[in-house]
Amino acid sequence: MRTIHSVQEWQSIRKEITNKGPIGLVMTMGNLHEGHASLLKKARAENLISILSIFINPAQFNDKKDLENYPKTIEQDLVLAAEHGVDYVFIPSSEEMYADNYRYKITEHEVSHILEGKHRPGHFDGVLTIVLKVFSLIKPQRAYFGEKDYQQLQLIKGMVDAFFLEIDIIPCPTIRLDSGLPFSSRNNLLEISELKKLEAFSQCLFSGKSANAIEEKLLSLGFKVDYVAEWQNRLFAAIKVGNVRLIDNIAISSRAPDNDNKKPLN
Ligand code: PAF
Repeated sequence: MRTIHSVQEWQSIRKEITNKGPIGLVMTMGNLHEGHASLLKKARAENLISILSIFINPAQFNDKKDLENYPKTIEQDLVLAAEHGVDYVFIPSSEEMYADNYRYKITEHEVSHILEGKHRPGHFDGVLTIVLKVFSLIKPQRAYFGEKDYQQLQLIKGMVDAFFLEIDIIPCPTIRLDSGLPFSSRNNLLEISELKKLEAFSQCLFSGKSANAIEEKLLSLGFKVDYVAEWQNRLFAAIKVGNVRLIDNIAISSRAPDNDNKKPLN
């Protein structure tokens, strides 16, 4: 496994491996967990070369504190990457990734304003911009993204179509703890007692109740709720526990049938 910090070093490697077979990319902000591991496994199985990128992207954090608190565990991440047979780990600096001093960005005008986008203004512009930059450098044939960030996944697919990028975007199912809670880097910011309390979050989502009923239940349990809403035949929710914000979504078909009284998106 080779770890690369500089754009120039990566670009010369990229030239060398051009004819070596398909490249699978897993983009992350580090603090790797089972969810990321499932993406790495798939990337390795389906490609000759697998690449992991680790970059905490300042442009997608609308809240400075959230950026400061984002867990940084590079040593552990490299161990997990090596265990999963990753060939290259790309860990660029902000200075190199934003050498343009944030003058250029990708803006999407519809999907990025609902759900997460409504509560985190500018977030998806930041995500799409870094994804395009990393795609342009890595030039993968396939890129793997988790359905845990379903809205992000749809936006990335849309960008790939809009800009005729020849990259297959491979969606990967959310990996959950036994309690139903999805793996998330933000879980590491929580106390054990908070994690325990969060089990009710997943149970509510899978309860088969309407979005309104779920929102009421979550409020009654003491969570701060940003939204519970349906979109594209899925149920989405975002809540806060203390200062930590968590999101989840499930396919509506994966819950019990009692879903009259649907909650509109806004
Ligand atoms: O899902 C994430 O971890 C990030 O949004 C991504 C895709 C790595 C872009 O910074």
